[in-house]
Amino acid sequence: MKALVYEGPGSKSWKDVPEPSIRDDTDAIVRVDATTICGTDLHILKGDVPEVTTGRILGHEAVGTVVEVGAGVKSVAVGDRVLVSCISSCGRCRFCREGRYGQCLGGGGWILGHLIDGTQAELVRVPFADTSTYPVPPDTDDEEILMLADILPTSYEVGTLNGKVQPGDTVVVVGAGPIGLSAILGAKLFSPGHVVAVDLADARLDAAKRFGADVTINNGHEDAVAVVQALTDGLGADVAIEAVGVPESFELCTELVRPGGHVANIGVHGQPVTLHLESLWIRDVTITTGLVDTYSTPTLLRLVTSRQIEADKFVSHRFNLQQIDEAYDVFSRASDTGALKVVLSR
Ligand SMILES: NC(=O)c1ccc[n+]([C@@H]2O[C@H](COP(=O)([O-])OP(=O)(O)OC[C@H]3O[C@@H](n4cnc5c(N)ncnc54)[C@H](O)[C@@H]3O)[C@@H](O)[C@H]2O)c1
Ligand SMILES: [Zn+2]
Ligand SMILES: [Zn+2]
Repeated sequence: MKALVYEGPGSKSWKDVPEPSIRDDTDAIVRVDATTICGTDLHILKGDVPEVTTGRILGHEAVGTVVEVGAGVKSVAVGDRVLVSCISSCGRCRFCREGRYGQCLGGGGWILGHLIDGTQAELVRVPFADTSTYPVPPDTDDEEILMLADILPTSYEVGTLNGKVQPGDTVVVVGAGPIGLSAILGAKLFSPGHVVAVDLADARLDAAKRFGADVTINNGHEDAVAVVQALTDGLGADVAIEAVGVPESFELCTELVRPGGHVANIGVHGQPVTLHLESLWIRDVTITTGLVDTYSTPTLLRLVTSRQIEADKFVSHRFNLQQIDEAYDVFSRASDTGALKVVLSR
């Protein structure tokens, strides 16, 4: 089969690799019908995630059709259409029993396209298939359900819920890529007073307006702290959500937040960041970090099927799986191409 193989920082290739096979009896083999590219894949290619080693098939998001199951798989059958979540779960360990699947101790967690071969391929081996996939609801498209593999649960859990967004809050989202835009959708479920999007790319800020931000700031040439203070009687944001993953954006969030407010970091960081405790210690600020757990996937599936969340709004470009190099190019030049989520279909 063909797959996108990581070949060290800055290098990848779409090439022939052996087909995956069942290794544990709880595995399923899934034919990838739709997959996509995440900001995290770009971090991997920058060398920010050193656990990803040369030869790894990338990708941790998919909707597909089950083609084979191990003898121990109970609730997933050949022919089923499934959402392959970015987080796998053994379902048995201490953390899985707490719904903290991202921290799974039994061999799950974020493994696809990270520690084991991923979804940017014609076929993928999905461990713990019963507890790591979700049936695709009837009358939904692969594309919209694909948005639940990572971006929607990530932003909802690690941004909106960790940030404790409340009605009337001023919520600032720094970084208006798919993750930041999805944090805007999640925050809107709680009727915030203002949703402010901050990004360096005007194309992304235009998208933020379409997703419901009422104020946008290009921090390449505007002073985000001044704009947010003007909006909040000089106090700062109730919640600042970091959705980039570089030191500047995290530090900006800690400057934007009001005393007693929340900074919810979502970004994957490859560099050390300065935590300015010399100014933060006195301000009662709560800072959270997190890897997505995907415990919210069932809730989000209901919000998508009831059209409370329009997940298909994220899809900006469509390609065949074979055009994955072009798709990476378009996604990585989002400020020029206007790319949000690029969908690669079989
Ligand atoms: N914690 C998790 O579980 C988890 C899961 C998925 C993704 N992520 C991370 O979330 C982050 C966002 O993902 P994405 O797919 O939206 O990525 P993306 O690369 O598409 O978007 C990042 C956005 O940040 C903007 N940006 C860059 N530098 C900036 C700065 N200094 N100030 C303001 N904006 C700036 C870019 O213009 C871009 O629009 C990434 O770091 C990704 O790795 C984390
Ligand atoms: Zn991701
Ligand atoms: Zn577990």
